[in-house]
Order: sequence, then structure tokens, then C-alpha cells
Amino acid sequence: MDKERNIFPVTDLLDRQAKEQLLQQHSKVLWLTGLSGSGKTTIARELEKLLQQHGRMACLLDGDNIRTGINNNLGFSETDRQENIRRIAEVAKLFLQNGIICIACFVSPTVQIRQLAQNIIGENDFMEIFINTPLEVCEQRDVKGLYDKARKGLIPDFTGISAPFEAPQTPFLSISTENQTPIAAAQEVFNALLPHLKYSSKTN
Ligand code: ADX
Repeated sequence: MDKERNIFPVTDLLDRQAKEQLLQQHSKVLWLTGLSGSGKTTIARELEKLLQQHGRMACLLDGDNIRTGINNNLGFSETDRQENIRRIAEVAKLFLQNGIICIACFVSPTVQIRQLAQNIIGENDFMEIFINTPLEVCEQRDVKGLYDKARKGLIPDFTGISAPFEAPQTPFLSISTENQTPIAAAQEVFNALLPHLKYSSKTN
């Protein structure tokens, strides 16, 4: 309750357990972090398909899409990135509470910013997955042509070039993309994840 602001949130909605029972799955937030061009979105799309094929309900939230819609008023300063991640974590939490597995693909470049997401989502439900593609490889791929622009000074605060990227120290998973296909990478995530999604009324 937020009496000062005259806000009274409803608390007796159908709960997560009811939604998980309906979907026969345990929900989680899979937080994919990594440099731009590391392969987050490509792996996430394959993962979403895999989950769907196995009867699991998932949704995919992606940086460029979210920044086109709900977060189209945010840039790439530290403050804006924090607000970007704060809103996304709140959205991911809504999916989580509705029993839906949420795959979130965001650069989320610092330990602090990912901690912010984890604090909102909750430690038990936040599964950090590092898409561990070295800067040189992302830059060589340069799928969107952004590294070239950033090197020319045309994009300020570009992660890995003129803004920091801090690798996670203890992620749930660290995925290499240099010697496996996106489908194989998605399968690796799926295999590690599956036991955590199994529905059991006792674990809820
Ligand atoms: S985050 O840092 O706030 O988590 P987010 O994942 O939403 O970033 O958006 C990253 C995407 O925005 C990149 O994949 C890239 O396409 C685009 N982008 C544009 N400008 C930048 C920038 N300065 N730094 C990083 N990504 C950028």
C-alpha cells in the first residue's frame, strides 16, 4: 500500500502457483547477458522454439524490441540503462508471476545493473546466462555494423568500445558461441534448465 500517493495495489489476484499448475511448469527468468552481437537473441529464439516444442510456455524479451516500444524514451547513459533494466525486470516479474518462462536478452553490462534485475526478480528465479563471445569475435561479425560505427566515434557509450562490459563472475551458465551453432547453444541451455522447470506442487 502506498497511502501517501493514494495507491492501493490489489494483492488477492490468482497467484503464481495457480498459474504454474495450469501450465504444468515452474516459471523462471532466464537472463541472457553479453555484448551486442554476442548471439543472445539468436540463441534465445532457438531456446524459445525448443521450449515450445516441449510444451513449455515462454516469452522472449529483447533489447532492440523493448527499446522500440515500452522503453523508446531511453538511451545508453548509465542512468538510462539502469531504468531500461529496471522496467524490463519488472515486466519479466509479471510473466514469472503468471507462470510463464521469460527469456530476457539484454546487454545489461555491469554487475550492478544485473544485481538490480536480480533484486527485482528474486534470487531463486533469476538465472543468469552469460553469452560468452569475446569482443574481437563480436566486432568481427559486426552483424548490425555498430562496432564499425562505434570505432569511428559515431555511437557514444558503445558497450565494449567506449562503455564498460563486466562479465558475470558466477553465472548459472556460461555459453561459448565460437565452436558451436546457435541451435547447439540453445540445446545446452535447455538441458541445464529443464530440471528447474519441472512442475511439482511441493516446490511452489
Ligand atoms: S542495455 O545495456 O541497456 O542492457 P540493451 O540490451 O537494452 O542494452 O540494448 C542493446 C542493443 O541496442 C544493442 O544490441 C544494439 O543493437 C543497440 N545499441 C545502440 N546503441 C548502443 C550502445 N551505445 N551500446 C550498446 N548497444 C547499443
